Order: sequence, then structure tokens, then C-alpha cells
Amino acid sequence: SRLMSTGRTQSPIPVITVDGPSGSGKGTISQALAGQLGWHHLDSGSLYRLLAYAALQESLDLSDESALTALAKRLSHAYRLPTQDNPAIELYGKDVSDALRTEGCADAASRIAALPAVRVALLAWQRHYRQSPGLVADGRDMGTVVFPDAVLKLYLTARPDVRAERRYKQLINKGIESDLPSLIKEVEARDARDSGRKASPLKPAATALVVDNSDLGEAETLQQVLDAAHAVL
Ligand code: DC
Repeated sequence: SRLMSTGRTQSPIPVITVDGPSGSGKGTISQALAGQLGWHHLDSGSLYRLLAYAALQESLDLSDESALTALAKRLSHAYRLPTQDNPAIELYGKDVSDALRTEGCADAASRIAALPAVRVALLAWQRHYRQSPGLVADGRDMGTVVFPDAVLKLYLTARPDVRAERRYKQLINKGIESDLPSLIKEVEARDARDSGRKASPLKPAATALVVDNSDLGEAETLQQVLDAAHAVL
């Protein structure tokens, strides 16, 4: 609507974007940031994972753009993302949170995410979560493509070995078996695909504050991010 235009005199619902590669801690940090601010949180990767999961279930060809966009259309009313009251990700009323965390699903998500039509199909899904009083959105292209008018753009990163080790611990904690050497390979392959693709590649927005947290604890990273947020709000 006209009221939502980005003119300086109006005040659109504020968004803070947190982009970065897998294992950069962007999920944990954005959730904590949203909690501190009392804002909504969007984990945009879960949308790519949801679509990938459904595509795997239906044995779709993961390079078939029109089949995938048709599937996205069908799913748009069939899923729900976590809220404060219910942390589950649901598809057709079923809790699929754990299924979405597997490496198989992550790999499929990264493949379909390279397809431009898939990214366009998920744009409206993502922008729908921009709701009062504000949104913290994490992903790969939140600051560059989905919310270019964000009040603050953060780019979290860490060395690949550090990120693979974090991923390893997350999976083990969830009881998902895994081994570190192959995880490092998978993380590197996904990084290369996410950064090398033509459609919305993973990269810091021009004005992003880049935080390398390889040698920072979670509390220190959160403090840096909170300081940056309070400086602009
Ligand atoms: O953040 P994640 O690991 O849950 O994301 C899974 C995949 O989805 C990731 O490999 C790339 C893709 N993705 C994307 O292309 N753009 C986003 N905004 C979020 C995720």
C-alpha cells in the first residue's frame, strides 16, 4: 500500500537483517536479538528447507523450476513457522522441525535455492513476516534482496573449520549422527554453491557490518550485534 512506501517521512516496520554462511551463528544470534528487542524472527533458510523437504517427499526433480514453483504455490498455505508459543515448524499439521535439520535436506535446499524462479516464489512468503513492532530476518540475501531497506544489515561469518565444528556439535546434540571430515566437505561445497550462484549469491550487503566471530563466544557476538542495533534504533 502507499503507506508502506519507503519515503523518509513515513516509518515502515523496521527490519534488521543477519546474513552469513551456515555455522556462522546467525540463527542463534538473530533469535536472541529478536528476543531482546521483542521483535519477530524469520529464519528464511527454513523456508528453503521446507520446500526442499516437500520436493524430496514427492520425488521431484530438484532442477525442475516449474514443478518447484508449483509446489511452492501449493505449500504456501500448508506450512507454519515457529512462534513464541510454538517452536515447531509444521507442514500439513505435522512437526517437521527435525527432518528439516538433516544434511540431506540442507543439501537439497541449497540446490533449489540456486534457481531464480524458486527464489522469486519465496519472496512474498518472506516479506509477509515483516510485522509490527519489527523483524529480525536471517538468511543469505536478507539485506541484499529481500529487505533492501533494512535499518541495520549484519553479516556474520567465521572460518570454515570453525563453522563445520559448530554444525557438528549442533547435529550431535540433536542426536543426529555425523562425522567432522565429511561435514567440513559438505559445508565447503554448500558455501561454494551459495556464494557462486548467479541468483542472489551469498555476500555482504554494501552497507553491512561484518562480524567475524571465529574467536568470539556467543555472548560477545550478541553484545556487538546489540550495540549496533541500539546505535540505529
Ligand atoms: O541457513 P540454512 O542452512 O537453513 O539454509 C539452507 C539453504 O537455503 C542454504 O544452503 C541456502 C539456502 N538459503 C538461501 O539461498 N537464501 C536464504 N535467504 C536462506 C537460505
